[in-house]
Amino acid sequence: MATCDIFLLCCLIFSFSAMAISLTTITPNTSIHYNETLISSGRIFEAGFHSFGNSQNLYFCIWYMNISPRSIVWVANRDTPVTNSGAMFKVSDGGNPVLIHGSGTQIWSSNATETVTDPVMLLLDTGNMVVRNGSSSSGRILWESFDYPGDTLLPGMVLHVNRVTGVYNSLRSWKDSSDPGSGEFFYHLDAHGFPQLVIGTSSKLLYRLGSWTGFFFTGVPWETLYRYINYSFVLSDQEVRFGYEPRNGSIVTRYLITSLGTIQRFTWSSDTKTWQLFLAGPQDHCDNYALCGENSECNVNNSPQCDCLEGFVLKSAGNLNGGCVTKVELDCDERDGFVQYTGVKLPDTSSSWFDESMNLKECAEKCLKNCSCTAYASLDIRNGGSGCLIWFDGLMDMRSESEGQDIFIRVAASELADNTGNNQENQVQKYEKEDIDLPTFDFSTISNATDNFSPSNILGEGGYGPVYKGALANGREIAVKRLSLKSRQGPEEFKNEVMLIANLQHRNLVKLLGCCMDNDERILIYEYMPNRSLDNFIFDQTRSKALGWNKRLNIISGIARGLVYLHQDSRLRIIHRDLKTSNILLDNNMNPKISDFGLARVFGGDHAEENTIRVVGTHGYMPPEYAVYGSYSVKSDVFSFGVIVLEMLSGRKNREFFEEQHHLNLLGHAWRLWSEGRPLELMDSFMRDSVTMSEAIRCIHIGLLCVQERPDDRPDMSSVVLMLNGERALPNPRQPGFYPHEIVSSTSKHELSSTNEVSISLIEAR
Ligand SMILES: *[C@@H]1O[C@H](CO)[C@@H](O)[C@H](O)[C@H]1NC(C)=O
Ligand SMILES: *[C@@H]1O[C@H](CO)[C@@H](O)[C@H](O)[C@H]1NC(C)=O
Ligand SMILES: *[C@@H]1O[C@H](CO)[C@@H](O)[C@H](O)[C@H]1NC(C)=O
Ligand SMILES: *[C@@H]1O[C@H](CO)[C@@H](O)[C@H](O)[C@H]1NC(C)=O
Ligand SMILES: *[C@@H]1O[C@H](CO)[C@@H](O)[C@H](O)[C@H]1NC(C)=O
Ligand SMILES: *[C@@H]1O[C@H](CO)[C@@H](O)[C@H](O)[C@H]1NC(C)=O
Ligand SMILES: *[C@@H]1O[C@H](CO)[C@@H](O)[C@H](O)[C@H]1NC(C)=O
Ligand SMILES: *[C@@H]1O[C@H](CO)[C@@H](O)[C@H](O)[C@H]1NC(C)=O
Ligand SMILES: *[C@@H]1O[C@H](CO)[C@@H](O)[C@H](O)[C@H]1NC(C)=O
Repeated sequence: MATCDIFLLCCLIFSFSAMAISLTTITPNTSIHYNETLISSGRIFEAGFHSFGNSQNLYFCIWYMNISPRSIVWVANRDTPVTNSGAMFKVSDGGNPVLIHGSGTQIWSSNATETVTDPVMLLLDTGNMVVRNGSSSSGRILWESFDYPGDTLLPGMVLHVNRVTGVYNSLRSWKDSSDPGSGEFFYHLDAHGFPQLVIGTSSKLLYRLGSWTGFFFTGVPWETLYRYINYSFVLSDQEVRFGYEPRNGSIVTRYLITSLGTIQRFTWSSDTKTWQLFLAGPQDHCDNYALCGENSECNVNNSPQCDCLEGFVLKSAGNLNGGCVTKVELDCDERDGFVQYTGVKLPDTSSSWFDESMNLKECAEKCLKNCSCTAYASLDIRNGGSGCLIWFDGLMDMRSESEGQDIFIRVAASELADNTGNNQENQVQKYEKEDIDLPTFDFSTISNATDNFSPSNILGEGGYGPVYKGALANGREIAVKRLSLKSRQGPEEFKNEVMLIANLQHRNLVKLLGCCMDNDERILIYEYMPNRSLDNFIFDQTRSKALGWNKRLNIISGIARGLVYLHQDSRLRIIHRDLKTSNILLDNNMNPKISDFGLARVFGGDHAEENTIRVVGTHGYMPPEYAVYGSYSVKSDVFSFGVIVLEMLSGRKNREFFEEQHHLNLLGHAWRLWSEGRPLELMDSFMRDSVTMSEAIRCIHIGLLCVQERPDDRPDMSSVVLMLNGERALPNPRQPGFYPHEIVSSTSKHELSSTNEVSISLIEAR
């Protein structure tokens, strides 16, 4: 009985203090105090006073009633907080929502201009706070919060531009995650030329989502979004409007511009009770506005990322970001032709021309008739394409985009003849991945090239034998891998297997140039990587300085992309099984290339290998299930990848790391710092000042996800790539493999659950 009473009493006290008073309407006779809220009729949204953190500042805000912690979607007095707890939010006699200081001074006021005798303010289930003329639901709306967006675009809200007056509304970022004051970044429709969505500060354009394609804006992978969300884009002579609704009304979603100027769409997961990141932009470097200058295309998968469009050359030699100019002057008549690019984010449309009724052929003719026309494209890609979009002068901010469009770029007739050939070649390389004719080398050539396999030419000793530096008679430098044990395969089988490897072509894999068979000799010839391997840099106090934060990020994502290719994109499914920093080679530009992939196959599968070669794998990189039970899967590579990431961030070798106090290896140490909410202390000290905090935390988070003890918990590599790009929400990591179990006492478990929240808020704040 006694316990029951206490329980009841607690409930009463709790509900009393937590619920305060909730109103459903406000009239001039009522007002909202700090301890009261206004709720929507379906109990979806709630409005009231809110303060951030320990601050005394009070803001009148709208949030989701049933989502905790509060996710604020609108703030009335974002730049004029009150500190007086006697402040009141009310609707004035005429119908103007106002916020009044305890003393009666007005702190904030809407700009409702009409006055009515019987105004009623209420909060709709959409999150829109409105003032109506009279209490009837047919009363005209005099003012609504949806007309004054903050940093969040809710379903039903609209971004618009008046094409006559040029007036537009915009989202504006918060100052930071605990200060809703007007921040630096705007997100709005730009209606110069064909309208596009842009993000920037008051003086600078930073990022374009691009122009409307009929489905979505050109610069965003849209297909998944489109399945869940119904976007609307209305263009008339008077105005442009953009808004969205989830296709399934029960999806809770919000879209916002963060205080760092990035955009994020979240959807609420009622299973995990968290917001899941559904879309984030910018996606990568290439989204930086005009990164490559005019007439250049940015491609994150290339190195360098900027490349002049066909028929164009660098404006100033050596300056890849300075843009490009035509190689040959346009003839400026109908002899000019067009080079077609597919899968691009269309260039900046702010000085474009468009027509909704023309077809693509008419569009080409129109372009040829005007000397300053430089490119054309379909305006609307639905149903095979319609309309005409034309650019004049320089093409700015074009990038490759897997879900992008086609564009036709004008070149002189002479260029066209050259380029059709090249084009076809590229296409073959890109789409068909033709079988390669792998050269075979004579043993004498290779022996000569390596000075008779001179020990002084040894670059390293891999799992399958020594690697020598060599030079062919023509001067080309090569790396020669002399496989140490006799393969069970005959020359034909060996060659077939090697052909398979040779056909694995990816910019993040070391390229196989040829092979050599002579009696029992089995030799592979690779491209030579002058900058050697990753371990030479990251573990060396001096050389590690050559790898700043951005380079490291680039290397991490390069390795990840190479692995995605090995695991799922190539014709074979290759598990590397010996990923480690010494197997990551670096090219001239410090781009990573995975080496030693596919060798397990050449050696006739795993059984042969266990007998003939030492157990593949290197301590410190092997996951527990492999080291202990010998069982492996793509998730074994994921584990090794995670170790590499943590090593690259910390500059420490997992295997050699030993933390005295808690007897932890690097993974344990990283996990401990993470659990204690101080992940950044993992970073190599020389980088701590230069890293982008959110990126670093994301990488550590991903590293920890990859080294989780259970293979099933580890993400696959394609998820890792999405996570690195910020396109996928990050689950909370569980304990890593090889974590000394005995120290996970009940107290540290407690720490874990509280710090998981820390990590979520850190990630969300971005
Ligand atoms: C507001 O209060 C005044 C004076 O107390 C009263 O005359 C009026 O009817 C009230 N209005 C409403 C809408 O309740
Ligand atoms: C709310 O605060 C106001 C002003 O401080 C006070 O008059 C009122 O009684 C409080 N209401 C509740 C339910 O605490
Ligand atoms: C009201 O109008 C003034 C002047 O046009 C403007 O500065 C202010 O931001 C507006 N207030 C709101 C809430 O829109
Ligand atoms: C408000 O509603 C009343 C009664 O329905 C009507 O007479 C009046 O014109 C309306 N005022 C405005 C500004 O719409
Ligand atoms: C999408 O939205 C538009 C207007 O916003 C609406 O007319 C249309 O019916 C919606 N389509 C679907 C499938 O919900
Ligand atoms: C909408 O989503 C809910 C919850 O996920 C689901 O139960 C329902 O079937 C969906 N409705 C439609 C029309 O897809
Ligand atoms: C070519 O297009 C530009 C930009 O729209 C325009 O100013 C110019 O008059 C056009 N020239 C011709 C010959 O149509
Ligand atoms: C051997 O190498 C030397 C230079 O290193 C070169 O001049 C010679 O032609 C090579 N011989 C053969 C057979 O490749
Ligand atoms: C990488 O190699 C290139 C070419 O040998 C060289 O110019 C560059 O300095 C090297 N980079 C580093 C960081 O050592």
